[in-house]
Order: sequence, then C-alpha cells, then structure tokens
Amino acid sequence: MKTNYLFYLVILFFGCTFGCQKIDKIDNNNREVTRLTDDWEFQYNDTLPQKWSNVTVPHDWAISMPFDKKIDMQEVLVLEDGERIPKLRTGRTGALPHIGKGFYKKTLHFSNQDKDKKVFIQFDGAMSHAKVYLNKEFVGTWPYGYSSFEFDLTSYIQYNQDNLLEVHLENKPLSSRWYPGAGIYRNVRIVKTNPVYVTNWGTYITTPEITETKGKVNIKTTVKNDSQEPKNIEIIQSIFYKDERVSSTSKTLKVTHTEKNIEMDLEVSSPKLWSMETPHLYQVITQIAIENEIVDTYKSQFGFRTIEFTNNKGFFLNGKSVKFKGVCLHHDLGPLGAAHNTSAWRHRLLKMKEMGANAIRSTHNPSDPSLVQLADELGFLFIAEAFDEWEEAKTENGYNKLWNDWAEKDLVALIHRDRNHPSLIMWSIGNEIREQNKKDGYKNAQFLTDIVHREDPTRPSTAGFNNYRAAIDNGLADAVDLPGWNYKPNKYKATHKAHPEWKMYGSETASTVSSRGEYFFPAKEGKHKIRPSLHSNSFDMDFPNWAQTPDREFKAQENNDFIMGEFVWTGYDYLGEPTPYNEEWPTKSSYFGIIDLAGIPKDRFYLYKSHWSNEKVLHVLPHWNWEEGQKVSVHAYTNYDKAELFINGKSLGIRTKNQSNLYDSYRLRWDDITYHAGEVKVVALNENGDAIAEDIKYTAGTPHQLKIEVDRSEVKANGEEVVYATVSVVDKNGVLCPRASNLVTFDLDGEANILGVGNGDPTSLESFVAHKRKAFNGKCVTILQSSKNEGTITLTAKSKGLTSAEVTISTKNSI
Ligand code: GAL
Repeated sequence: MKTNYLFYLVILFFGCTFGCQKIDKIDNNNREVTRLTDDWEFQYNDTLPQKWSNVTVPHDWAISMPFDKKIDMQEVLVLEDGERIPKLRTGRTGALPHIGKGFYKKTLHFSNQDKDKKVFIQFDGAMSHAKVYLNKEFVGTWPYGYSSFEFDLTSYIQYNQDNLLEVHLENKPLSSRWYPGAGIYRNVRIVKTNPVYVTNWGTYITTPEITETKGKVNIKTTVKNDSQEPKNIEIIQSIFYKDERVSSTSKTLKVTHTEKNIEMDLEVSSPKLWSMETPHLYQVITQIAIENEIVDTYKSQFGFRTIEFTNNKGFFLNGKSVKFKGVCLHHDLGPLGAAHNTSAWRHRLLKMKEMGANAIRSTHNPSDPSLVQLADELGFLFIAEAFDEWEEAKTENGYNKLWNDWAEKDLVALIHRDRNHPSLIMWSIGNEIREQNKKDGYKNAQFLTDIVHREDPTRPSTAGFNNYRAAIDNGLADAVDLPGWNYKPNKYKATHKAHPEWKMYGSETASTVSSRGEYFFPAKEGKHKIRPSLHSNSFDMDFPNWAQTPDREFKAQENNDFIMGEFVWTGYDYLGEPTPYNEEWPTKSSYFGIIDLAGIPKDRFYLYKSHWSNEKVLHVLPHWNWEEGQKVSVHAYTNYDKAELFINGKSLGIRTKNQSNLYDSYRLRWDDITYHAGEVKVVALNENGDAIAEDIKYTAGTPHQLKIEVDRSEVKANGEEVVYATVSVVDKNGVLCPRASNLVTFDLDGEANILGVGNGDPTSLESFVAHKRKAFNGKCVTILQSSKNEGTITLTAKSKGLTSAEVTISTKNSI
C-alpha cells in the first residue's frame, strides 16, 4: 500500500552536497549497461535436426526469406474498409514467413564480482509471446511484441561460469493487419546495479511551472532496496544543460525492502524551451549514495515546454499556435524489415522534416524507444499509440487474446517508458477499435483513459475513430480527452457544431495511394481504382473508398481553425496492407506512403512540402517519355501562385491557383495536353508576370549509365550507422530513364556491409537481403552499414551493358 511508504520516509537532509561537476565527470561505473548484439544463435521452428545460425540482434528472421502468397492468407471481413462479405487477402501481413516459432540462445558470463549486484535483462521489444529462460529456468514472459519489458535475472545466475540465456518466441497466424516482423527485433540489454537502485524507467519528471526566469522541475524517483537490510541513502538529483550542471538537490532517507517513491523539487533559472525549431533538452542524473559512496547513477532526459489543446483555436506549444503537419508511421523499415535501426530512423525522420512535417503518430503500437528520443532531438511532436485492438477482435489471434491480462500492463509500460519526453503530447489508447460498434464500448475506453490519468496526468488520452457516428453515440468519443478522427474531413464542421467543447484533430488523413513513377491519364480522382498493372496513380488522386486526396484534407484543415491538424496515412510505405490490391497477387506492401518502401520520395512528397514547408517548391510531373501525340496531363506541385507551361518552348498557357476549386487550390494543372518528345517546363511567375523559378523534365534516351547518390559522404565508424545509396539508370545525357528496370548489382569494398536493397515496387517479390536489385521506374536503393573501423567504403553499381558508377564514403570515429 502506497501510504506505508511514507511511514518509512525519514527526511534527514536537504540540499546540494556534491560540488559543481561537469557531466562527463559523473561516475557511471556503478551501473553497467551492456547491449547484447553479437553471438546469438537462432533457429526457426523446432525442427530436427536442429539448425542454429549465428545472428546479431536486432534481428528479423523473416525479412531474408522468400515471399509466399500462402503465408498468413486471411479470409476476413474488414469492417473498417466498408466490406460486407469476407474476402481472401494475400500479402496483408507482408507474405514473409513471420508466422511460427523462433528460438534464440546466447551464452552470458557472470563473474564472482557480480555476486553482490542485481542483474536485469531488458528487451525494447520481441515479436512475440516472448518467454525468457536462464539456465533452463523460466524467468518470465511478455506476449505483446511491441512492448518494452525487463526481467530480474539475479536469482537464476550461476557465477563464475557460463550461463545459457534462451528466448522463445511465437507469432500466430491471423494476428496482425500489417507485417509485424519476427524475432528479437529490437535491442536487448543486461543491466547490473547495486542492490539499492533506481528501477527501470524509475524517474517521472514534470515541469509544473515555466516562466522566462525560472522552471520548476518535479522528479519522482522509484528506488528499490533488494539488499538484506534497510539502508540510509542519500539521493542526489542534478540537472544538466549540455554538460553544465544547472541545478541540484539531495535528500536522505531510509529505504527498506519495499519500493519507495521519492519526490523532489528543483528549479532551473532561465529555462531554455524545447520547441520544434530549437529542441533544447536537459539531462537529469540521479545518484544514490550510501555512506558517501555513489552506488547507482541513473540518467533521464526532459525538456521545458507547455502544451495546450483548445476546442476552438487548435493546439499551442509554448503559447504559440501550431497546426499538426503529422504523419503516421508503422514500425518496419522496408528492406530492413522490423529489425530496429536508429540510424535508419534518423534518416527517415530527417526526410519528414525536410518535407515540413512536424508531428508523428506511432501507429498502432508502442514504437522502439529511440523513435520518441529522435522526436525529442529533431523537434517533432509525438503521439504514442498503444493498441489497434482491444477486447473486440479485428484479427482472430490479435490483441483481443491478451486484453484481459495485459492491457493495463502494456499501457503502463508504454507510459512509464516514454513519459519524460517533451516531444510526447498525447497517449493514444487505440486506433479504430471495434468497441466503437458496441453499446458499452465506452467502458474499455474509460478504463484506459483512467490509467493514462493515473500514470501521467500531464497529457491527454486520445484515440483514432473511423466509425465516427457510432463512437459518438455510444459515448466512446467522450471517454477520451481528445477525439481523433480518421478520414472525416467532411464531418469536422458538423461535429464541432454538435460538440463545441471537444478538442479535435485528424488522427488519420488522406490514405492516398500511389506507386512511384506510375502515371495514368487523364489525372483525375480514382476512388478504389483497380488497374491491371497493380499500380496506383502518381498524380495522387487515387484513394480507397473511405479515404481522400491530400488536397481535400488541406482544404478541410484550412476551413476549420478549431481542428488541431492532421496525421497523414502514411509518411512511408510499409510491409503488408497493399490496399487497393488486397486480393491481388503479387502485392505485399503498401501504396499509402508519401515516400516509397525503399526510401525514395514519390511525387506526393513535393505536394506536402509545397503546403507544409516554408521553402519554395516547384515540382513538375509526370516524366516526359510518352507516345508521340498522346494526350497527357501535366501538374505542378507548388506553393507559387501562378505558372506557365512550355513544351519544347511553346507556351500551353498560364495557370493560377484558384481557391474555389479543390484541385486548383494546391496544384497547378494542365490537362488534355498533346505530348511531344523533348522537354516539359513549368515556369513560376510573380504578380508582374516575371519568371521566378522553373522545373524541367526531359525525354530520356535509352539507358546508358548508372548514377549513385548517397545521403551522406561521411559516416561514423561504429558498426551501426547506415548510408542510403540511391542508384538511377540514366541516358547518355544523365537524364533519368523513367521506365528502366535494369538489374543493378552492388559491389562493396571497405568498411561496410550491405544491410538491404529495395526499389519501392509494391509488386516486387525480389529479396531485400541481396547484393542486387532491379530498378523500378529507373531507381533502386541499397542501404549500407558502417563497420567499426575508420577508413573508406567504395560502392560500385553495375548493370549489364551500362557504364558503372562508383562512390566513396569515409568512415570516421567521430564526425
Ligand atoms: C485505417 C487504419 C490504418 C490503415 C488505413 C488504410 O482505417 O487505421 O491502419 O488500415 O486505414 O487506409
């Protein structure tokens, strides 16, 4: 019982005892954290004879295996897609062999010196139904594959000898709506501490008051004493900005065997606010001292910022109005599968930033912890989402099977892990949960909202509702603090009128579908358009029944100031859910992304950029290789108001933005144009009619050579960082061959290895783990990972009959 803690709490001392240290002088030796990356052995399914292979963790066992139409075929009635009868969906979960059992083992050595320590194992996530054993003894289980969890290994350890760690996983069929990944796909750590220690995610830091001159900081710390006797401890909290200590305090108390929650208040003068432009972060170092010796050091991070959600004026960060220009992101990394890679995520988020996005919704499950950390560092607002399903099943073996025993534990784990992050603004307790259709559906929502309020009263609960009428009628929308609407731009006004007190945003918007570089004429709205090529139009006007074009959502956002913004489905393509080709094979990855599965921007990237970023954008589409005399459409994605189209120097007219017509509001269009080979040029004009910018596409000749572009020329030599290298097939003048599908092979020399390859084609069944890839519409990508040695990486791209390309990247210990 919580009240008993107070009985033991004897405050003997309050004040700063430790002199003004630099952060790098902080003694960390008392808490040892080791990531378990190498020398794991893995076996897929328990077949005999056993076949173990050596793997590194994070590991996704399915990503290197062949696609197969039969894997996890789902005969399902997808209510959310407006279906009335069950249909057989192939590729819904990616068509990779993620179903089945995965066995991992690894030898751990503990010395006699470890005898007086506590030893924990931490998983950032393991897919799924993890069971952990040490020396054949069962340690613990955590079924939800997206949750982070920790087990205490101490009592299972044999000292001064090898210990066998085993992790058994199992993915059931019909348990997901997208590719969930398979295996120990996130980081694992061993943490050794003193028997008196700060528990995992043991600090909760809030900033109850922020003014220009001072920031109040409240830190609640959970300390545990697993030694044999009660201890008098001193707990010291120090706040650092960069490496300077800016505040500190300490408290002395007695800790017994029960967990103790210790609350301390600090003040920072002239706090630097965390914002999207200047994401200032502060570090808290929590130290426990016994008899003047530091026995544990625990690090946390926080930021000063205020958030305010209003019913009529939108959202405010630090008192300034901000509209969410958000993207939804699933957890896989395309060619890398679900195997987590922080460097690849940094690359992805930087692309989102370049586009002008300022917010991320981690759909529909807890992300890797590094994602919200990156959001802190790069300045994104972040919605952490817990579930896609509650008690009511969407898939037979989905979360509904875990709901009763695990919902509270999973939500608490997410909140405790992420609640210090300044980027995090709301907790989403669910996405399109089927309880929307149930009379008493609000009860489960209230249960989860109560947990949010108990564990983090500083942030609201939210959920994404698609079945908007039912969710309002059965009280669900009222059981969250902020209702989010999936695909309801046409209902914003009426909902606001009926519920003026609600604070609302578009939790999922657009769901426009497109395949990079695939154009179909004339460019016009295509509702649930199925084409024999199994591709969707890159003019960004194709969308499934329930969805819209970006333009329609832009308009609704502009016309409704009270709406706090939008979260586009999705920033990147992901594995699984190949809507609108759910029943067609071979399709196995989404068409929803603004950026394709390999990481190459589609045209849509420039449409969002022109609307969201402060930069000037002028992007002409399509490519310029058509049949002579054919009728085509030409669009310009631009934030210039006016532009003139020229084909081979001949003007085809000026177009001006026209807010009274949806598709003339955010793009400039020339339809029914006769194609002539040569060049298409769009020239932006100012009010006086002067040319101020231009974009040109040329007709390409036959493929002649390859070109490589890398996202960086220097990379850290740490065995982790990745480089995205995009290879283009170009003609002898360097013009992209927009339909080229040449097979490209990658030769690598030096300090890197190839992690994955891709080309963004949702219908391709080529392996992601290879040294070759066909170009899709002229382009493909290879993702390289640096080694731990300083030196150079030379990547050569070759293709039969074409001139090769080469690029050199340097690997450095510090950059
Ligand atoms: C929504 C759902 C997403 C995805 C999307 C496709 O209904 O929340 O997970 O399925 O549709 O448009």
